[in-house]
Amino acid sequence: MSATTLASLYPSHLATLQARAAEALARGGFDHLLVPSGNLHYQLFDDRDYPYAVNPQFKAWLPLTRAPGSWLVVTPGAKPKLLFLQPHDYWHVVPAAPGGHWVEHFDIVVIRTPEEATRHLPKDASRCAILGEPQGMTGDHLPNNPQAVLAYLEYHRAFKTPYEIAMMREASRIGVRAHRAAERAFRAGSSEFGIHLAYCQAAGQDANDLPYGNIVCLNEHAAVLHYTDRDRIPPTQARSFLIDAGASFGGYASDITRTYSAQADEFAALIEAVDAAQLKMCDAVRAGTDYRQLHLDAHLALAGILKDFGVITVSPEAAVQTGVSRAFFPHGIGHGIGLQVHDVAGFAESDHGGTIPKPDGHPYLRLTRVLEPGMVVTIEPGLYFIDMLLDELKAKGQGDAVDWDRVDAFRPCGGIRIEDDVVCTEGVPLNLTREAFATA
Ligand code: GLY
Ligand code: MN
Ligand code: MN
Repeated sequence: MSATTLASLYPSHLATLQARAAEALARGGFDHLLVPSGNLHYQLFDDRDYPYAVNPQFKAWLPLTRAPGSWLVVTPGAKPKLLFLQPHDYWHVVPAAPGGHWVEHFDIVVIRTPEEATRHLPKDASRCAILGEPQGMTGDHLPNNPQAVLAYLEYHRAFKTPYEIAMMREASRIGVRAHRAAERAFRAGSSEFGIHLAYCQAAGQDANDLPYGNIVCLNEHAAVLHYTDRDRIPPTQARSFLIDAGASFGGYASDITRTYSAQADEFAALIEAVDAAQLKMCDAVRAGTDYRQLHLDAHLALAGILKDFGVITVSPEAAVQTGVSRAFFPHGIGHGIGLQVHDVAGFAESDHGGTIPKPDGHPYLRLTRVLEPGMVVTIEPGLYFIDMLLDELKAKGQGDAVDWDRVDAFRPCGGIRIEDDVVCTEGVPLNLTREAFATA
């Protein structure tokens, strides 16, 4: 993605945000939108700070992800203002003066202390919708996070502008580059920790930048959905490798999972079957489709694979109906993604608020909205061999629905997940992840 492309897409992105802000303020009855970038947080009884995470409402406007103590002031009809904190500090690296294609669209005021911001904020705080975290803030301009304003902005954040798609495309490109390096490290016999380092090295990102903690699993560890331990020593025999890891670009996330078998064995065939089913699910990311239906359809497709591989003894339909498929696929088919890896407003009924319920029996689905052009979602089916859930099936008297010898055969490989980031368009969906793998 060239800098000029981003520069050419940015003005209309900003115009969209300004229009949204104007409507959100009108709904809440406010004159100004104030967005503090957020503060550093410190470990208990210690002076060490946690990795800084910028306020997503702030980075929606600017690709600035390391600017604690700064503020954005948006007033309809006026050029947006950035109060940029650049402290006099010789202990830490001071954020560089803002640069890049976007600066000309803002009035930028450099402040030297957090307190100085007050002088440049609208005087009457009661006229301001202030979106932020309350911790560490003082003065009159404390975040009020008005529900009407947040509901409107968060609902519409699901619809990405072309600029945002371009940013996510870049985040996908970086993530895929690192996935390739991770696969090479796996094939070379690295430990989980070593694979993680290879990933970070190739992405040029670590805990300060990555959109979420890398999930790097060898063998049975792939059965732990969010396995974030990392063994320092490689296993005697590495049979399988599941990696769920993303990358950031200018505040936007990618979220990518791949699973590999060490051999061309039956587990490899199972991966291939999930991969083929996943591609069909990605193709179903179409305007007008209820995302909940994609999730339910995924259960049927995955149960079909379990049947084909002899893991279940009942029909796929019966496995879905009786909840057997949920023991093997115990999470949602995906979620919205953008400025946050799990993007906000997944259940939003409208831009006034309200909640679209999850299907009964599917508590982990994170998105229940109808897909529309501009939405970006993950599609991440999985099949796992999780003893806890399989024991529950047995305890419920559903043990006959499973061929336990087949479970024993696959258990040493843990599980499979394949995850892509897919843009809903007016026509065929755009798969950012596959596109990045095809061009890497
Ligand atoms: N990486 C977390 C998820 O896939 O939702
Ligand atoms: Mn995901
Ligand atoms: Mn993921």
